[in-house]
Amino acid sequence: MALTYKESRLVKDTIPALREHGERITTIFYKNMLRDNPELNNYFNSVNQKNGRQPRALTSVILNFASNITNIAELIPKFERMCNKHCSLGIQPEHYEIVGKYLIRAFGEVLGPAMTPAVRAAWEKAYWLLAKMLMGREAQLYREFDDWKSWRKFKIDRVVPESEDIYSFYLVPQDGKKLPEFLPGQYVSVRIQGPEGYLQSRQYSLSEAWREDYYRISVKRDEGSQFSNSVSRSYLHPGVVSNILIDRMPAGSVVELSHPCGEFFLDINNGSSTMPLVLISAGVGVTPMVCIANTVTKQQPGRPISWIHGSRSSVPFQDHIAQMRRSNANFRINIFKTQLADRDIVGVTYNYDFRMDLAKVDPEDLFLQNSSTEYYICGPEQFMLEMSDYLKAQGVPAARVKFELFSTGDLAFQHQ
Ligand SMILES: Cc1cc2nc3c(=O)[nH]c(=O)nc-3n(C[C@H](O)[C@H](O)[C@H](O)COP(=O)(O)OP(=O)(O)OC[C@H]3O[C@@H](n4cnc5c(N)ncnc54)[C@H](O)[C@@H]3O)c2cc1C
Ligand code: HEM
Repeated sequence: MALTYKESRLVKDTIPALREHGERITTIFYKNMLRDNPELNNYFNSVNQKNGRQPRALTSVILNFASNITNIAELIPKFERMCNKHCSLGIQPEHYEIVGKYLIRAFGEVLGPAMTPAVRAAWEKAYWLLAKMLMGREAQLYREFDDWKSWRKFKIDRVVPESEDIYSFYLVPQDGKKLPEFLPGQYVSVRIQGPEGYLQSRQYSLSEAWREDYYRISVKRDEGSQFSNSVSRSYLHPGVVSNILIDRMPAGSVVELSHPCGEFFLDINNGSSTMPLVLISAGVGVTPMVCIANTVTKQQPGRPISWIHGSRSSVPFQDHIAQMRRSNANFRINIFKTQLADRDIVGVTYNYDFRMDLAKVDPEDLFLQNSSTEYYICGPEQFMLEMSDYLKAQGVPAARVKFELFSTGDLAFQHQ
């Protein structure tokens, strides 16, 4: 049931104080919730708890929701990313009880005497309004998963290097059953045993067009931030899951996967084969683009594709890209990188100054004149913002530009 005018006032009046103490709320909330419910550590990325990214994202969504409580319809499309993430991680309605309890308790600690019984009741109502919307959408997504609703065991059939730090894993279901179709651009969550005794899951875009016998993901080694001092040169906090997968999970190892998910995809049935597609990626952001490009070249071979990629030195999937370039006259490619390599692809436009600059790309390769062109961008957050700013300045409407963020937090919310 919607909030009354009085309830929504009570909620809104506390928002400035809650925003001001956002960090404290998230610390109290997660500390208490995970202490009392340690099994939830199996769902959360331990690193995002330490760096505060996920707790901040959750609190920011709740406060945004509460500030716009009289205008909820506009927010609904922005829930897609988190609902897909929740379903990919197996979040269930009973978890919302726990989160609600500890979140409102943390609000109470921060607000002190301002958290009167009436304010608490209004916040509980607001939380459940949001929670029910999310649970409703998640129930719908789970229904679409048919009989693959939980974690499914996959054997790593082979591991193939794609560049100096990206490895493709070919994953075959142990139950031998046919794999469901997914939309190019979507991801799976991969779950393994983490070093701190809990299970750890991460998302990986499917990097090959759908096949019924295996899925492919391509994982970049996250070396962590480098630090150096006068005595030693070392690495600080190498990424947990990527390093375990690459170093300790050879062919024959078993991992768990959840059903493909995600709101960053190309709906091939919803676009004519003449609508140009511009794929803009940097680094490991190449992975969903390979899947999209492979799917389109198979199913809509006449569709113009322009792929613009930024890499440090070696280009992942180099041979595959060269093959696509050779066999498809509608496939254009521009590559930005720092160093020349001896195996550059014939017929590709190279730009050796690393930072991608769309102004340096032939305007025809951006299909700016065509009002149906769709743009897909994947890479570091700052890179995606720069690319989208450029497109916006050229008059491309936001509705034709899609982003995939490879970390936690909702770009749409952060930049609204
Ligand atoms: C939708 C989606 C699709 C994705 N697709 C791909 C893909 O196709 N390929 C791919 O390689 N990745 C992809 N990712 C990213 C992937 O999910 C992981 O985030 C990535 O592999 C790093 O995970 P990790 O466990 O190795 O690193 P984590 O352990 O999660 O660490 C991440 C970063 O945090 C730092 N860190 C670690 N410990 C600490 C600490 N205590 N304090 C502060 N910082 C710390 C590390 O240095 C590291 O840089 C995708 C992500 C999303 C959301
Ligand atoms: C109203 C309630 C909730 C809100 C507003 C919310 C919001 C969010 C947001 C914004 C994200 C980040 C999505 C992204 O990657 O961009 C997220 C991720 C996540 N949420 Fe929720 N969430 C809610 C409830 C829950 C519940 C009940 C659970 C289960 C205990 C849960 C577990 C998670 C997990 C495990 C992640 C991924 C964390 C990571 O990868 O670091 N959430 N949520």
